[in-house]
Amino acid sequence: MKTPVPDYLDEVLDSLRGDTSGANATYIPELAEADPERFGIALTTTLGRTYAAGDADTEFSIQSISKPFAYAAAIIDRGLDRVLESVRVEPSGEAFDELSLDGATHRPKNAMINAGAITTHSLLAGPGAGPEERVDRAVSFFSRLAGRELRIDERVCTSELGTAHRNLSIAHMLRNYGVVEGDVPALVEGYTRQCSVLVTVRDLSVMSATLATGGIQPVTGERLMDPAVARHVMAVMASAGMYDGAGDWLVSVGIPAKSGVAGGIVGVLPDRVGIGTFSPRLDQHGNSHRGRLAFERLSRDMGMHLF
Ligand code: DON
Repeated sequence: MKTPVPDYLDEVLDSLRGDTSGANATYIPELAEADPERFGIALTTTLGRTYAAGDADTEFSIQSISKPFAYAAAIIDRGLDRVLESVRVEPSGEAFDELSLDGATHRPKNAMINAGAITTHSLLAGPGAGPEERVDRAVSFFSRLAGRELRIDERVCTSELGTAHRNLSIAHMLRNYGVVEGDVPALVEGYTRQCSVLVTVRDLSVMSATLATGGIQPVTGERLMDPAVARHVMAVMASAGMYDGAGDWLVSVGIPAKSGVAGGIVGVLPDRVGIGTFSPRLDQHGNSHRGRLAFERLSRDMGMHLF
């Protein structure tokens, strides 16, 4: 017999399945090949109970959803003051891949756009860390957040690196202004590897539930970050996680969230729940179309709007 919550989640997915608006990301060739019909959802409470429906065990690349978690790791590794020297906490209102830095300081506006996330990646694993250590730090931190060993999809990574001219130009710009140091192609490769980690919606819901608890992984009980770090990351997700659609998202959904171009969305309600959705077709902001609709339903039906 099914419990009421999965029944409800199945019903949410079924009600939205017929909406085929949007399109898979194509600028990463491997993502264009993904099955656009996949649709999954998972919720994990702060007590560690997960409810899931649809394609909840299908793996996809984490992409930009890696950014808030890598940001948390960089703050843990370097301290908040050092990270703030390199990356600001202002909403950018721009697309994720905008070639933009703050006019006066040349710092990226936040850690959710690519310029900020490439900078954040460069700060991983402490001063002097090499490219491999930074990637290892990201993958092992994400694995502890998810409560299982995660791995990189080498095909997606190679596919993205073949067309990574825009991220290379962002990273060269950052290097020019001294925001990042060292070898630029190695930095972009490391960031791309971070984005190529495979997750399921179950993983995403547990990872974000760890933010919701204030840093304790709710299944393993391990403390992975201080409450102040979790609060900082959730605040930046709320203001910048959905890029140029962040204001509209906060008004209509009201759940701090982060999307990825493979079709994942992660959402977090402090002290309550972590949510993951997956559906590959994207809207004009680069956010999963049906994922957004599922979040809107949950927010409305379950009173999840923060305000
Ligand atoms: O840097 C990129 O372009 C990708 N690895 C990630 C972009 C992404 O997921 C944007 N989110 N919606």
